Amino acid sequence: MKTVRFGIVGTGRISDWVLKGAVLEPRFKAAAVCSRSEDKAREFAARHDIHRTFTDIDAMADDPGIDAVYIGTPNQTHRDIAIRCMDHGKHVLCEKPLASNALEVKDMISAAARNGVVLMEAMISTLSPNFRMVQERIGDPGKVRHYSGTFCQFSSKYDQLRRILRGEEDSPVPSSFNPERSGGALMDIGIYPIYPMVTLFGRPDSVKADVLTIDVPTSEGMRPVDLQGCVTFGYDGMSAVAMYSKIADSRLRTEISAEGGILSLDQIHSTRQVEFIPHGAPTSGRSGGPAKEDITVPCDPDEYLCEFKEFIDLIESGRSESENNSLDNSLTVVEILDEIRRQAGVTFPADHRD
Ligand SMILES: NC(=O)c1ccc[n+]([C@@H]2O[C@H](COP(=O)([O-])OP(=O)(O)OC[C@H]3O[C@@H](n4cnc5c(N)ncnc54)[C@H](OP(=O)(O)O)[C@@H]3O)[C@@H](O)[C@H]2O)c1
Repeated sequence: MKTVRFGIVGTGRISDWVLKGAVLEPRFKAAAVCSRSEDKAREFAARHDIHRTFTDIDAMADDPGIDAVYIGTPNQTHRDIAIRCMDHGKHVLCEKPLASNALEVKDMISAAARNGVVLMEAMISTLSPNFRMVQERIGDPGKVRHYSGTFCQFSSKYDQLRRILRGEEDSPVPSSFNPERSGGALMDIGIYPIYPMVTLFGRPDSVKADVLTIDVPTSEGMRPVDLQGCVTFGYDGMSAVAMYSKIADSRLRTEISAEGGILSLDQIHSTRQVEFIPHGAPTSGRSGGPAKEDITVPCDPDEYLCEFKEFIDLIESGRSESENNSLDNSLTVVEILDEIRRQAGVTFPADHRD
């Protein structure tokens, strides 16, 4: 068993979170961390027992003691960091969304191909054991007629955004609501119901978005960013809907409804429990019919373990890309995100750079 030596880019909350899962994979080693600040790099390294720190991404990318990088920085930085690392021969596991827009994702895909390295989007939804089980069973209840995916979670960053807008707090707009960082509800959480839909059913024929936006301050003046959305998708013989919000919660389950019954997932971003509800199952205590069935399979001990396992499997087996988190799927998803933003009138500075 060969260990893959990782450089971690960015010392934010998400890097802390994913490392808790990564260290459960025996082939994973956190070899270095890169931060824009030496102090933050040292603090992060101490927290995670990492022995080397960098403040220059090119120096880390050039280091022969590192095989792969995990990128946990804001969306507008993904393309440049990933390409710099791939051009130095490093494999790249990059946070979702893979980049700000389709043009950037295409640049990254070209860089992976010319360097012969693995590039994978760190999208856990489609790699979790319960999602994989659903994927295997999807044909069992017959023709799928409807997919309904939801991720709505009130964000504490929205409270902070409101304080900033009221002039009560003088800090930058947080990344997840900041168009300069290619943020917004769609990029932050709307992608979670959309990516699995594309993995399961491919590219939709049509996209119709209903999006709520708000103007936020940027260095170029006020600019719209999205807070929540409801998007409907047309497919041949089926329809789909994705609902996402950072300003309201929801406990709606994600459903894949087929002619013979419903595969019902507790949550799509990281599925822990799945039911199969056969057609004709009782809808009240008095009616008869086949009972619903809990078909959950055991979850990983940490929800981020699956992405490291998948990524390291690819490196070890010499495969260039994941089946579920394929580069085609990542590109199709970001093209859908671009279309939703176009309909919503949300653009990023990253859309206008070379
Ligand atoms: N998979 C998940 O569950 C999950 C959850 C949340 C977020 N995310 C994704 O994680 C990424 C980071 O999101 P976030 O909200 O955590 O962002 P963030 O807090 O604004 O930034 C994360 C870290 O990136 C570094 N950074 C910030 N600005 C940078 C810049 N201009 N250039 C280079 N590095 C920069 C900083 O580390 P240093 O100060 O050390 O440089 C910062 O702590 C996004 O792609 C987001 O979609 C994923």
